[in-house]
Amino acid sequence: MLNITPETDNQTAKIHQVVTDAFGQIQEAELVDKIRNSPNFIPELSLVALENGDVLGHILFSRIVIETPKKIPALALAPLAVTPIHQRQGIGTQLVQVGLSRCRELNHSIVVVVGDPRYYRRFGFQKASQFGLHSSLPIPDEAFMVLELKPSALMNLNGNVCYPAYFNEV
Ligand SMILES: CC(C)(COP(=O)(O)OP(=O)(O)OC[C@H]1O[C@@H](n2cnc3c(N)ncnc32)[C@H](O)[C@@H]1OP(=O)(O)O)[C@@H](O)C(=O)NCCC(=O)NCCS
Repeated sequence: MLNITPETDNQTAKIHQVVTDAFGQIQEAELVDKIRNSPNFIPELSLVALENGDVLGHILFSRIVIETPKKIPALALAPLAVTPIHQRQGIGTQLVQVGLSRCRELNHSIVVVVGDPRYYRRFGFQKASQFGLHSSLPIPDEAFMVLELKPSALMNLNGNVCYPAYFNEV
């Protein structure tokens, strides 16, 4: 049975391995480590998918700022990883769904993600530019998506989402 729970200190090496294996490169695993060592890390929102104590997947939500005339706090979902032999078994879906529930419980309002719209649309993410939101990353318009966790959180919110420098290194 799959158990989705916040990471513990003794799981960091295993998370590094799962993320490296999922992406087939080390950059996203290093991103996890950089976020963990930054003030943007929220321990309750670094979640692992466990089966019999083994880490099969990981999702991370970290603090980010939307620059409008005011600074609006939001969360960035990144990265999401499932170990290759366990992909396409619904683990990624459960990590996103449980993760978004935790974000709501912790009273967050907005989540942004960079990824494949075919995957993230099913969770309610929409193209961010429809809401006047743009990202500081050099990515295609349709790959930058947003989800509001509270009604009207995105209303009249034109602005730029400033990804911290460590995201440029991925
Ligand atoms: C993307 C990923 C997290 C999905 O996790 P998963 O447990 O395999 O996914 P699930 O079993 O919950 O969902 C499977 C669905 O996602 C789709 N899917 C899987 N990977 C996808 C991808 N990279 N892009 C688009 N769709 C994808 C499948 O086609 C399937 O769709 P269906 O339900 O319509 O058939 C996982 O495949 C992974 O770790 N990939 C490598 C790393 C990566 O690309 N992470 C995403 C960064 S944005």
